[in-house]
Amino acid sequence: MKGRRVLLRVDLNVPMENGRVSDATRIERVVPTIREIADNGGRVVLLAHFGRPKGKPEPRDSLRPVAAAVAEHVGRPVAFAGDCIGEAAAEAVAALKDGDIVLLENTRFHAGEEKNDADFVKALAANGDLYVNDAFSAAHRAHASTEGLAHVLPSYAGRTMQAELEALAKALEAPKRPVVAIVGGAKVSSKIDLLENLVTKVDALVIGGGMANTFLHAQGVPVGKSLAEKDLATTALRIMEKASAHNCAIILPVDAVVAWHFEANAPSHAYGLDAIPEDGMILDVGPQSIERVRAAIDDAATLVWNGPLGAFELTPFDAGTVAAARHAAERTAGGKLVSVAGGGDTVAALNHAGVAEAFSYVSTAGGAFLEWMEGKALPGVEALRAG
Ligand code: 3PG
Ligand code: MG
Repeated sequence: MKGRRVLLRVDLNVPMENGRVSDATRIERVVPTIREIADNGGRVVLLAHFGRPKGKPEPRDSLRPVAAAVAEHVGRPVAFAGDCIGEAAAEAVAALKDGDIVLLENTRFHAGEEKNDADFVKALAANGDLYVNDAFSAAHRAHASTEGLAHVLPSYAGRTMQAELEALAKALEAPKRPVVAIVGGAKVSSKIDLLENLVTKVDALVIGGGMANTFLHAQGVPVGKSLAEKDLATTALRIMEKASAHNCAIILPVDAVVAWHFEANAPSHAYGLDAIPEDGMILDVGPQSIERVRAAIDDAATLVWNGPLGAFELTPFDAGTVAAARHAAERTAGGKLVSVAGGGDTVAALNHAGVAEAFSYVSTAGGAFLEWMEGKALPGVEALRAG
């Protein structure tokens, strides 16, 4: 890499509060790749998107404040260029010495990024000799900086991309069996494809969160005022049939914690499924369900987790999620379990339980993790394989 200009696609789409990065996990994840390239004398040209500006440069979507955060985490200066193509980018890249780092402004400030436009790809490629993609969490997008570049420059996976793909392969492609999946979250509607794919791949599927209510309702369990997508009853039943055809056990809650207000510390009570109050809503799995989830985790050699089991952001309705997460962490620490988690709220839920570090792998990907769980090919990954 010495003396070469390396276009390094990273995911710096980090949460910000009052102009500062409030969760730097994604930055921390790409530090090893940045350092490795720089230590080998490469000239690191960071490409990233921020927000969804849709081709229109808006100051609130600038990556400038993120450059400072990257510098802090890498422990080296990171220059910044006000555009990812054209003169500003060319000048900043020309000024790099071996081992230097520059971050170019938001790729989504140009409409060509999301269109994967050939001329825009060319304009980006003009600043690099090599392309390294370390942004698994953006690999479900076939954009110029995530996909197009892999076709026009010698291309490679970065260390985080590599770690992610290895962890995911261990979880679903060639896993140690039995494999158990835990899927939670509010809605079945956003996870139909995911459930349909999982039931063909895993030995047992634990369903929790609001989406479990949809399944319970489909089976004739009255769920009171709980969140449930009643129009998806036939979908839920179809998924259950498909599961049984593939010898996948579906583990639904057998009891539930019910409250009358959706707020922290609202008065609540655990009920069996035959006694869910008409005017109450299910906010967490009950104690017997937690025992069943623990037992399912004990049976597993591999665990794939997406989505919380209850309204974990409100105490005490985090109990199910926290208990299951801690149990999975313990089994992992004991060498009994390979545990992989990712997607949206999942990382927040595991952080809340204080066990994210104890899992075998926690993905920072949202949509990309879900699409991977759906069994879909990710354009950013496929382009690297082809290249
Ligand atoms: C994410 O934050 O999930 C990735 O960076 C992708 O962002 P997008 O959903 O705006 O494409
Ligand atoms: Mg997203």
